[in-house]
Amino acid sequence: MPSITIRQLDEALKKKLRLRAARSGRSVEDEVRTILREAADERGSAAADDPVPAAKRAISRSGAAAAPGRKRVLLIIGGGIAAYKSLDLIRRLKERGFAVRGVLTKAAEHFVTPLSAGALLGERAFTELFDAASELDVGHIRLARECDLIVVAPATGDLMAKMANGHADDLATAALLAAGTRILLAPAMNPHMWANKATQRNLARLIADGVTIVGPNEGEMAEHGERGLGRMAEPLEIAAAVERQFAEAGALAGKRVLVTSGPTHEPIDPVRYIANRSSGKQGHAIAAAAASAGASVTLISGPVNVPDPSGVSVIHVETARQMLEAVQQALPAEVAIFAAAVADWRVANAGEQKIKKKPGQATPELALAENPDILSTIAHRKSQRPKLVIGFAAETENVAANAQDKLRRKGCDWILANDVSPSTGIMGGDRNTVALVSTGGVEQWPPLSKEDVAAKLVARIAGAIEK
Ligand code: CTP
Repeated sequence: MPSITIRQLDEALKKKLRLRAARSGRSVEDEVRTILREAADERGSAAADDPVPAAKRAISRSGAAAAPGRKRVLLIIGGGIAAYKSLDLIRRLKERGFAVRGVLTKAAEHFVTPLSAGALLGERAFTELFDAASELDVGHIRLARECDLIVVAPATGDLMAKMANGHADDLATAALLAAGTRILLAPAMNPHMWANKATQRNLARLIADGVTIVGPNEGEMAEHGERGLGRMAEPLEIAAAVERQFAEAGALAGKRVLVTSGPTHEPIDPVRYIANRSSGKQGHAIAAAAASAGASVTLISGPVNVPDPSGVSVIHVETARQMLEAVQQALPAEVAIFAAAVADWRVANAGEQKIKKKPGQATPELALAENPDILSTIAHRKSQRPKLVIGFAAETENVAANAQDKLRRKGCDWILANDVSPSTGIMGGDRNTVALVSTGGVEQWPPLSKEDVAAKLVARIAGAIEK
């Protein structure tokens, strides 16, 4: 028999519930209460006429509040089409041994029912702020306090705006405002809503407040024919991000890490630009490795063809000046790693219109202006300088000597120096041979995959931060 999808389960439960309500002549809400009571009774408790103690028993039996040693996750389901995936997320989290409680926003109830969420949670899903039963039972303060992590999935543009501004006009936002624990957001919205300056402003604020972000991913939207950045991360990716939050062994748990990656594009006119051969593979691998080590990572990426690493907050930019702006916005951070191949110059006389080729006209001359040096700017900051500032040195000759000179000039703590001569295949390739240059000397690393370079670097960073 083919396996049943969460969506099918949700629809079947809704149908059954409506039928039951039609037959009994009672409201759907009353039916939900009865079912929860029956479920509690079936599991061996005394008869419960009062829904409050029944719900309480259901909670303690599910282990959400009680089981010692189990990590407790409060899942807040926002109102978006991706809400159905959050039902699968409940399953994924429980499979991994987490005790999960659930809150649905009013908007979420348009997409999934408290009943289907409750069936998967093994206890009722909470929905009401001003509900005597809920408040007497656990209430928003207990919901917020009796958990080790709050996950908001899908985090809609509206929920993010409310969080960024400290609103608390429903159960979900009240619990978030009362939270004393870590928060993980899985944003999901239309690409235009995601790209909107207001959303990006809210995102920057939330990151500055210490919230961790997973996704969004790029892909098909629910709206016909729409594609772009805004799809919620898949349940497995979110579950992995949750596990990372608890990675006590994670060498960078609780640390904030900033990474730049990829090339920059400097426009010549609206259709042409100056670029370089950087693929972003090394910077992205570093961001992924830092996230796996438990860090809260912001990756500022130039235009690349590699996918965004999961569990990392990614900000996409084009030019060096945009990259500097995004880096400054993303501070404070304990560690900053500048792996991007930033263009040293931009076109000072870039055309506002496409430069046309006219017969008899002289070849156009491009005047160049120097771009800001992002690494040097951050390394020389008086305030909010990350504890560890790490640069790269892309060299084609005298690698170690040039890197040592860069270390001094740019004021950073370490430089990873690599030979990017075309014969090495490093730029754009999958492997890298680097030397770690610090004031202590030059340490040559063997040829490694870019992922292994990233893992080795992260281990070194963790060791240095500990000291
Ligand atoms: N970098 C930067 N901003 C720039 C140029 C470079 O942040 N405008 C950073 C890179 O991310 C890298 C380091 O500086 O971490 C060295 O980059 P590299 O291209 O090797 O050196 P340049 O500064 O460009 O110097 P040169 O061209 O002389 O090698």
